[in-house]
Amino acid sequence: MGIRAPQLDVLAGARLMAAKVTLSVIKADVGSICGHSTPHPKMVEAERQVLLRGIKDGTISDFHISRCGDDSALIMTHAKGENAREVHALAWEAFTAASKVAKELKVYAAGQDLLVDAFSGNIRGLGPGAAEIEFEERPAESVLVFMADKCAPAAYSLAFARTFLDPFTNTGLIIDPRGHAGYEFDIADVVDRKHVILKAPEETYDILALIGDTTRFAIKRVHSRHLKTVAAAVSTEKLSLIAGKYVGKDDPVAVMRVQAGLPAVGEALAPFTYPALVAGWSRGSHHGPLYPCAVDDSSPSYMDGPPRICCLGFQVSHGKIRGAEGPEAPAGHHEPVDYFKGSEWDLVRTRAMEVAVYIRGHGPIMPGIVPPEELEYTTRPEVLAKLQGRFQPLD
Ligand code: 13P
Ligand code: 13P
Ligand code: MG
Ligand code: MG
Repeated sequence: MGIRAPQLDVLAGARLMAAKVTLSVIKADVGSICGHSTPHPKMVEAERQVLLRGIKDGTISDFHISRCGDDSALIMTHAKGENAREVHALAWEAFTAASKVAKELKVYAAGQDLLVDAFSGNIRGLGPGAAEIEFEERPAESVLVFMADKCAPAAYSLAFARTFLDPFTNTGLIIDPRGHAGYEFDIADVVDRKHVILKAPEETYDILALIGDTTRFAIKRVHSRHLKTVAAAVSTEKLSLIAGKYVGKDDPVAVMRVQAGLPAVGEALAPFTYPALVAGWSRGSHHGPLYPCAVDDSSPSYMDGPPRICCLGFQVSHGKIRGAEGPEAPAGHHEPVDYFKGSEWDLVRTRAMEVAVYIRGHGPIMPGIVPPEELEYTTRPEVLAKLQGRFQPLD
């Protein structure tokens, strides 16, 4: 691993150079078996071959490929920093290779999220989503990767607000002096493409005033004020705004560093016990509850849903990914903890299904469907044009 932006630490009188590692999670839906369920294994194999080459040529240090529903997630570590052209180009190449396989196999929606024909410098704005953090590895660097399907970037807003703002969810905000110093929230306006940084706890109400509007605002990054380091990042690309028409929902990924002054794993997962309603389900046009599940259980089925959330946990050690895999594991093979696999989450899944069936009872009426400006499929302009001459004044 190369050395980036060296910083000087004084440790036992010695001056040590601290290397930085970047964790990049880049996701895209480039095709799926029978509707919007899961990529074909040959597509994943095509991605794996590209990333293996990326290790060989030194672009990345390590990787793990996962998915939530029909969205592939390339989880990569490297020493090139956030938004690194080579790393984004590698991910683009992996998705292009998978998309080519998808087209050959004639799976559904092959190449769905690749909105342009050629890569141009940075994957953001081209269709795929990226959540990236660069940090100095702590003595034990525990990280979580969240992956969601059938929802928009604001799907994480409620959960992350509870973890980083709410002491009734995260007691660490009260009793851990490092958590007590609070967090900085970098909030994206995904419509006008601008962002603002607000400080918690003192600006908590302003933060909530913004992120309460899930049609426009989403939490993009969170920083620890005590540790002066990044705690979390969310992919906030909004595909429909990039393409100007419906091309599939964003299905965002997120990364969160945990433990040792940051939220404990439990404090990061606790908010997902509430199956919060999110926008983006079924034709990208409905509200539905977030259903926490194992990666292997993430193929949506009820009305193309309900919206799924998966969470993988692992260590980043010496720039590489460490799960429960043995020492003989081949490059790119890892066994992270699949956190929502556990039976504790059965109750939440049952509740999520009850909420899903309930809200679908609204059919095409709000709040079953999202507001008109958020609808990904609509006939409204045509219907209004057709009926123009038939509208009469009310009184
Ligand atoms: P840390 O010391 O890593 O923050 O541990 C706290 C914890 O895991 C409590 O559940
Ligand atoms: P994806 O965005 O996951 O491709 O799903 C499209 C959809 O809305 C299916 O109902
Ligand atoms: Mg799809
Ligand atoms: Mg999807």
